[in-house]
Amino acid sequence: MIDLPVTNTQLMAALPSHLAEVEKIFEAQIASDLPPVADLLEHVAGYRGKMLRPTLTLLSGMAASGGDYTAMESTSLRQLAAVIEMIHMATLVHDDVLDEADERRGTVSVNHLRGNEMAVMLGDYLISNAFHLCSKIGDPSLNESLGETTGTLCEGELVQLHHRDDLGLDLPTYLEIVRRKTAVLVGACGELGARVCGGDEKTCAAFRIYGEKLGIAFQVRDDVLDLEGDQELVGKTLGRDLVTGKLTLPLILLLEEIEADRFDALVEKVQARDADWVLARLRESGSIAKAVEFASQYIDEAKTAVAGRVPDSMKDVFNELADSVLLRQR
Ligand code: FPP
Ligand code: MG
Repeated sequence: MIDLPVTNTQLMAALPSHLAEVEKIFEAQIASDLPPVADLLEHVAGYRGKMLRPTLTLLSGMAASGGDYTAMESTSLRQLAAVIEMIHMATLVHDDVLDEADERRGTVSVNHLRGNEMAVMLGDYLISNAFHLCSKIGDPSLNESLGETTGTLCEGELVQLHHRDDLGLDLPTYLEIVRRKTAVLVGACGELGARVCGGDEKTCAAFRIYGEKLGIAFQVRDDVLDLEGDQELVGKTLGRDLVTGKLTLPLILLLEEIEADRFDALVEKVQARDADWVLARLRESGSIAKAVEFASQYIDEAKTAVAGRVPDSMKDVFNELADSVLLRQR
């Protein structure tokens, strides 16, 4: 008999125990009996994130199973959720090297703790283990899709690096960077979660679009938190975007809209990394608020993308998950 949770509250209450099972698979896969490796792994075990990606993977699998609660007990689905979180963690470890960030998820970053060489190798270790675990699921199409996805992530980062300090970066290029570096992996959670649970092509595509839209909104929210988040809550080094010459949506909008006679002053302050001055202009111009509004349109589009595909019993969960991306403080 299908065990349908009767309320959204019950489903949300049950989710942590499923995520705990995903974490067990994750930990078992990366375990090493070599002390230098085990020490580093113990450190990254302290990176307790929001688990957005495993959550979306499990929920998409359940939704594609018509709301069958037992889908979240599927080993394949849990393994897939662990694989995607492992890929995500690898990218964060590498990203902190690129951004010279010294804090991540409320603790010291690996590069800051042990140097860039260790961080690069740990990221490689995680990505290798992610594909090793993925191959245990026994569906080569997952390896193929995730191999393509990680390539796309790297392309996003490479294009972003290419545009470092490029004050002419336009909105379409920014969006392409964000889609590649962040959104495609969130899209993979939706698509592959549904695929593992037997979803048809249209259903898988709808959950991919939901994830990609969420991913774009997630990155825009990340841009805003980098500017005006609470460092303690966010748990990572803030203000890195300006310091590393990374143009993000609020600044792109301001550069596009600012009066001609104020443009040069803005460019000069951005180049001088004058964070206080730039932040004041972003606030008074309403550019931060416009970026948030921009992200909220993606949230609406995400909800619409899956509207006809989510079982009634899960509609609130998908809507609330989408809203949580915009409301998040960390
Ligand atoms: C965070 O961006 C970074 C990403 C979402 C992707 C990073 C990807 C790589 C470094 C490529 C490495 C790829 C593999 C396969 C290991 P951000 O700096 O804007 O976000 P942050 O505020 O969380 O640092
Ligand atoms: Mg970063």
